[in-house]
Amino acid sequence: MSTHLADTVAVITGGGSGIGRATAHALAARGARIVVTDIDLQRAETVAGELGDQAVAAAADVTDIADLEQVRDLALARFGHIDVVMNNVGVLAVGTVEDIPLEAWQRVIDLNLLSVVRSNLVFLPTLLEQGSGHIVNTASTAGLLPYGFDRLPYTATKHALVGLSESLALYLRPRGIRVSCLCPAGVATNISEQITFYGEPTTPIGPKLPIVAAEEVGESVAEAIGTDRFLILTAPEVIDELRERAADLDGYLARIAADYQK
Ligand SMILES: NC(=O)c1ccc[n+]([C@@H]2O[C@H](COP(=O)([O-])OP(=O)(O)OC[C@H]3O[C@@H](n4cnc5c(N)ncnc54)[C@H](O)[C@@H]3O)[C@@H](O)[C@H]2O)c1
Repeated sequence: MSTHLADTVAVITGGGSGIGRATAHALAARGARIVVTDIDLQRAETVAGELGDQAVAAAADVTDIADLEQVRDLALARFGHIDVVMNNVGVLAVGTVEDIPLEAWQRVIDLNLLSVVRSNLVFLPTLLEQGSGHIVNTASTAGLLPYGFDRLPYTATKHALVGLSESLALYLRPRGIRVSCLCPAGVATNISEQITFYGEPTTPIGPKLPIVAAEEVGESVAEAIGTDRFLILTAPEVIDELRERAADLDGYLARIAADYQK
């Protein structure tokens, strides 16, 4: 895809808040038209209202494939094509391993991972037919590095999303479709609303990384789409962590654990 987004149409899930909202703004500022979707219609409508005529809002729960099909049909009817699909919804179940029930695992897998499977089933045929497009999957630094042991379903699904995105990129590249994987560290958003707690509070462990504004992340996503970049980070320190981890995983785990026992 060219660096110009003027004629593109982007569908964003979880677009009513935080990173999704910021990306909607960043893409719209470059001329894209946006289908802002969220389980919370009011939030989606507010963001679409901020963007004006070049945006439309839709209620869509990413656990419901019929909702995503309606979004696809709305986007095609309103704008004629779909170029960018950003799969952005993610939730957390937080607690010690023994306290997080199977049902919580199933919910997080459904929302964080199967939502992307559904999206691919719904949107990919349209992109493949066009022979162009860009998929952005919002994973996390938690999908690249050992992360807090108190949020294993999140960590597991975000790692799965990184793996899914890498292999999907290989399949789609010769077909004219690019994939980016957004792996933010801390971002100031409403994410705390998406956390369900189990058992006694715990102190997570993992690399200490900076927290950035959602607007900065939206700009990075827009730039990565324009330049066909796969990995989108918000904390460059992650590269050093990845190098250290790759060179000696046992040593890395021991170092992280020791840091947090001080
Ligand atoms: N904020 C961070 O520090 C951070 C760090 C790494 C990764 N992420 C990831 O970024 C993504 C976006 O999170 P955010 O921080 O912008 O959070 P946010 O809470 O600000 O926004 C998430 C939006 O998703 C919507 N949503 C929740 N369940 C939904 C569903 N079933 N269907 C459709 N929409 C739904 C919410 O209504 C909300 O508007 C998530 O995948 C999250 O895991 C966030």
